[in-house]
Amino acid sequence: MQTELILPRPDDMHLHLRDGDMMRAVTPYSSRDFARAIIMPNLVPPVTTLEAATAYRDRILAAVPKGQDFRPMMTLYLTETTTPDEVAAAFASGIVKAVKLYPAGATTNSDSGVKDVRNVMHVLEKMSEIGMPLLVHGEVTSAEIDIFDREAVFIDRVLEPLRRALPDLRIVMEHVTTKDGVDYVRSADSGLAATLTTHHLVLNRNALLAGGIRPHYYCLPVLKRERHRLALRDAAVSGDARFFLGTDSAPHARSAKESPCGCAGMFTAINTMPILASVFEQEGQLDRLADFTSKHGAGFYGLEPTAARLRLVKRAEPLDWPAQIDAGGDEVTVFDPGFPVYWHVADQPGATEEQSHEDI
Ligand code: NCD
Ligand code: ZN
Repeated sequence: MQTELILPRPDDMHLHLRDGDMMRAVTPYSSRDFARAIIMPNLVPPVTTLEAATAYRDRILAAVPKGQDFRPMMTLYLTETTTPDEVAAAFASGIVKAVKLYPAGATTNSDSGVKDVRNVMHVLEKMSEIGMPLLVHGEVTSAEIDIFDREAVFIDRVLEPLRRALPDLRIVMEHVTTKDGVDYVRSADSGLAATLTTHHLVLNRNALLAGGIRPHYYCLPVLKRERHRLALRDAAVSGDARFFLGTDSAPHARSAKESPCGCAGMFTAINTMPILASVFEQEGQLDRLADFTSKHGAGFYGLEPTAARLRLVKRAEPLDWPAQIDAGGDEVTVFDPGFPVYWHVADQPGATEEQSHEDI
């Protein structure tokens, strides 16, 4: 049995860190295990300019504990008033790596999003020209489309026409949740990739709805049926460089989730790497974890995998994590995968190399 795994320090290519007290509370969990992260711009108000992205990056860096090396890679939130010059200047700065397209009303804080892609074509043309990636929240928002079909309909109605119009535009389908999404990414010759979240690899929609409604398993895109989860796992462990990790760790105050109209998002930053090691082990593909978490995403963004290493060890005792963390007076519930996790990040406090070996 394999009990040790050493990876280039991973990259989280889709992360919500929020701002203020919440950001200061959650950032250390990402910076502890990850080298770099693509930071989502859906603050209130959204991050739409290089100036705002730079200031946000500085606030994040100030929240990284001393001694940890974490690089936030910023994104701009695409609105119908975003200009080609703004995104080009942001990309040229090196601080902003991509632009995020939220269909208006698709998810948390997406009111300023795009109502019709035709209204932002001039910006997308510029991005295509300069090689700047477009990250899409791939769901339509029309009220008449069933929430479980929104990803598949987005592919047909928005993504495929967009890719035909701008074949050189580099696109990431963020948090793909269906077999339709996986198949679509696989069918593309070039320029298209997808992030996969930790939670969609672990849970299907029964976790959310069977035996009682569980608001901490509510996220967007919503959890799907088992056959979709299996397709996502297959993509994650396949070694196909078009699929890489974006946790979509999205903390919300517990009270905002446990509510008659609860917010979407799961907080997974704290235990993602141990859970993913379990998933890849269950699939008999532990050796491919590094591709998924540390190489494919870096490759897409034109980066080298980090020289620093993350060491995971399998121990006899399951990993323990707090049910909630404190975030400036609010509680944030930590993701529970529903199974014991025996993988530990080795250099976490209390899990030194020596202890880890002894415990096995
Ligand atoms: C995200 C959030 O809370 O910001 N929620 C979620 O369920 N994933 C937004 C998003 O990525 O859709
Ligand atoms: Zn997200």
